[in-house]
Amino acid sequence: MNTTVNPNKALWEKGDFTRIAATMRESGEALVQELGITKGLKVLDLGCGDGTTALPEAKLGADVLGVDIATNLVEAGNRRATKQGLTNLKFQEGDATNLKQVPDKTFDLVVSIFGAMFAPKPFEVAKEMVRVARPGGRIVMGNWIPNDPTFVAQLLKISSNYTPPPPEGFVSPMTWGIENNVIERFAAAGIPAERVSFTRDTFTFNFQGTPSAYVDEFRKYYGPTMNAFEAAEKQGRAAELQKELEELFNSQNKSQDATSIPATFLRVTVAV
Ligand SMILES: C[S@@+](CC[C@H](N)C(=O)[O-])C[C@H]1O[C@@H](n2cnc3c(N)ncnc32)[C@H](O)[C@@H]1O
Repeated sequence: MNTTVNPNKALWEKGDFTRIAATMRESGEALVQELGITKGLKVLDLGCGDGTTALPEAKLGADVLGVDIATNLVEAGNRRATKQGLTNLKFQEGDATNLKQVPDKTFDLVVSIFGAMFAPKPFEVAKEMVRVARPGGRIVMGNWIPNDPTFVAQLLKISSNYTPPPPEGFVSPMTWGIENNVIERFAAAGIPAERVSFTRDTFTFNFQGTPSAYVDEFRKYYGPTMNAFEAAEKQGRAAELQKELEELFNSQNKSQDATSIPATFLRVTVAV
């Protein structure tokens, strides 16, 4: 029996990411509206979670395969697709570093919104996305930007101050938010720099409750924040982390009666 734990998979199966995804639906839909999706387009949504972008893609008529490393999120995605009667959308388990079940040149569009960026081995990930896209197709990634002053970059930065340093050789997911890194990774996969373009875009998190209650959602259900609290508790610093996060969530909130927090991300488009 293989008992080796894959930390990448364990991180995202921890807690219940669907609770956070539920606060990301509006921006997911708005982003998909801009992708030029037409009926019958073959789309791979990689690191799809429970389908924040995969469901809107299917609703626009695309034939969508959602692939995610987390078993619980694949199950949640399939439940959502069935409930909404979407027969042109299927979720299956897979690893962005090795999409071994997916043949070459299959998809017109590969979408990965805050998904593939969290896989280890970024050069393998770029190679796999290019391999499964058909020549003439596109890859669209949404990647958080390191040291950006807005929400998610700050949340992950604060969290990292409480967690032990990563193992030697670990490549931060946030490096997918640096244009030169992205160019280098796709170049190694055979895509010249002039076929990679970048824009800054905004994703808004909407939660029906106070910013402090939203911090609690992250503390209870979001793997990276759960890990940060576990580490902080061991150091007797959990209250300090809670306070830092409440300050962050409150200062970035734009809503008077609920929580609405915008976050800047790097949108990458690759012409394959
Ligand atoms: C921040 S969530 C985003 C999910 C979804 N794209 C969304 O916008 O709601 C990151 C997702 O990437 C998935 N993921 C992380 N590493 C992965 C890998 N190596 N292969 C496939 N999916 C991965 C996680 O399981 C998780 O669902």
